[in-house]
Amino acid sequence: MWSRLAIIHYQSDRVIDLADETPFASGDNRLCFRHPDDEGLCIKVLHSGRAKQLHSASPFYKKMFGEAYFDDNRREYAAYQQPAVARNECTYDQHVARCYGWVRTTLGDGLVTDLIADLNGEPAQTLEEYLSEHGLDLLIQDAVSNLALFLRTSLILTKNLMPHNLVLAPNAQGYRLVLIDGLGLSTFLPLAKYSQYFAQRHIEKRLQWFYFRLEWEVSDRSISWRDTEATFRFSGMSPEVESKR
Ligand SMILES: Nc1ncnc2c1ncn2[C@@H]1O[C@H](COP(=O)(O)OP(=O)(O)OP(=O)(O)O)[C@@H](O)[C@H]1O
Ligand SMILES: [Mg+2]
Repeated sequence: MWSRLAIIHYQSDRVIDLADETPFASGDNRLCFRHPDDEGLCIKVLHSGRAKQLHSASPFYKKMFGEAYFDDNRREYAAYQQPAVARNECTYDQHVARCYGWVRTTLGDGLVTDLIADLNGEPAQTLEEYLSEHGLDLLIQDAVSNLALFLRTSLILTKNLMPHNLVLAPNAQGYRLVLIDGLGLSTFLPLAKYSQYFAQRHIEKRLQWFYFRLEWEVSDRSISWRDTEATFRFSGMSPEVESKR
């Protein structure tokens, strides 16, 4: 994977000028812009110097992977190349923002994905924002169940599902949860990428963690997330899945 992180194929040689554009959002690692040519698309660029900063602060055994390893855009693009995304090429965008590859921008390499919008065409609300306003209401419980079903069926691998990395796309029934950050594996040994059993296990663990996190989001938060997370235990796979092994 590390060697693949270094390779970038751009959609064209054109450099998109983002210098005068205002990002519609930003996270710890990236700035998110509406694509100047297509309002349905989002371009993400790294915060200036972010990969360099993470690289120099890392322990020596990680330094050897080079700066590309600390580039969230490159890691995310590599995660889109996982076999389960290819297997679900036509449908993965129901719950994961579709990725279109790379563009050159005045702020560096840009990764292009669908921009998930609300009914007014504005960038959609995150699950974190929704929960703080409405709690775990029936609409969102339904949306969470649909996401869980999708992950169990597609076996698309994600890191821990953070509520600020899921956004709410409106649909006829209520909402469709779409992952806009956090695809891939954070583990060093990618067993889940090549074994159905380990993929199922990985997904069950992520889902149990997600339900645990949702309960905390809507709790009084008298115990910090850090302390709460320390008590999380994966209770294993369901007996039906285990019996099919
Ligand atoms: N494709 C998208 N459609 C709609 N909103 C988006 C999209 N991508 C990102 N956002 C918004 O921008 C915010 C930051 O984006 P993103 O999570 O990709 O940045 P990051 O720096 O990688 O985040 P983190 O802090 O989790 O590392 C998201 O929380 C979300 O509100
Ligand atoms: Mg994020």
